[in-house]
Amino acid sequence: MILKVSSLEAHYDGVQALRGVDLEVGAGEMVALIGPNGAGKSTLLNCLSGLVAHRGEIVFDGRPLARMAPHRISRLGLLQVPEGRQMLSGMSVYENLVLGRLALSGRNETYDLSDIFRLFPVLEERRNQQAGTLSGGQQQMLAIGRALMGSPRMLLLDEPSLGLAPVIVKGLFHALRSLNESGMTILLVEQNARLALAVSQRAYILERGRVAHHGRSREIASNSEVIEHYLAV
Ligand SMILES: Nc1ncnc2c1ncn2[C@@H]1O[C@H](COP(=O)(O)OP(=O)(O)OP(=O)(O)O)[C@@H](O)[C@H]1O
Ligand SMILES: [Mg+2]
Repeated sequence: MILKVSSLEAHYDGVQALRGVDLEVGAGEMVALIGPNGAGKSTLLNCLSGLVAHRGEIVFDGRPLARMAPHRISRLGLLQVPEGRQMLSGMSVYENLVLGRLALSGRNETYDLSDIFRLFPVLEERRNQQAGTLSGGQQQMLAIGRALMGSPRMLLLDEPSLGLAPVIVKGLFHALRSLNESGMTILLVEQNARLALAVSQRAYILERGRVAHHGRSREIASNSEVIEHYLAV
């Protein structure tokens, strides 16, 4: 197990967003975290990244993350691709990628520019273009590429498909799958349950701050009762 979460709870003033979540991710797995709006998916990722205060236990690679600052967590190689694809829009694609190296600090480089360009060829074509002028899909690829420059041991993704056209999403998820096949461990939060179940090996369904169901993605995808009960739009 590279990640083990036990009895995780998180509150915002007055609102309990997580009510005792247990979740595990094995090294090399792609695990999907799905569930309706407000279920607590982003809160869970933000607890892992050290951005939201919580109770319970998070152990990453044998190390408890309790009260660890976000920059120390990312130095351990647990990297969240920022939501909203935050990047330096006035800087070039290349410069944004190079800045991703800052998360590395001490660990070995396992991804370099050529790996990222192989995964996302469009980033190489546009390496000198200002990041702010990229399309939404290209910006998402850049955000993932920049995280990879920090040579993560595990990637956290929060709704990478948000706002993207279906054909773009298809390409993006194809890249995520090949990234996972090359050994990257991924925890993927997605509103698009079908897509997330198609690309992951296991999945957790979060509902009102609790794990309502978990199991192999293929089995969940073919379980009409679960789909209807938890994931119907
Ligand atoms: N900064 C905040 N302050 C107060 N309440 C918050 C805050 N962020 C989230 N919440 C509440 O916590 C609960 C969980 O929200 P969260 O954003 O984690 O859900 P989510 O599953 O990511 O939803 P979505 O699919 O809409 O992204 C919701 O009830 C939400 O309203
Ligand atoms: Mg969210």
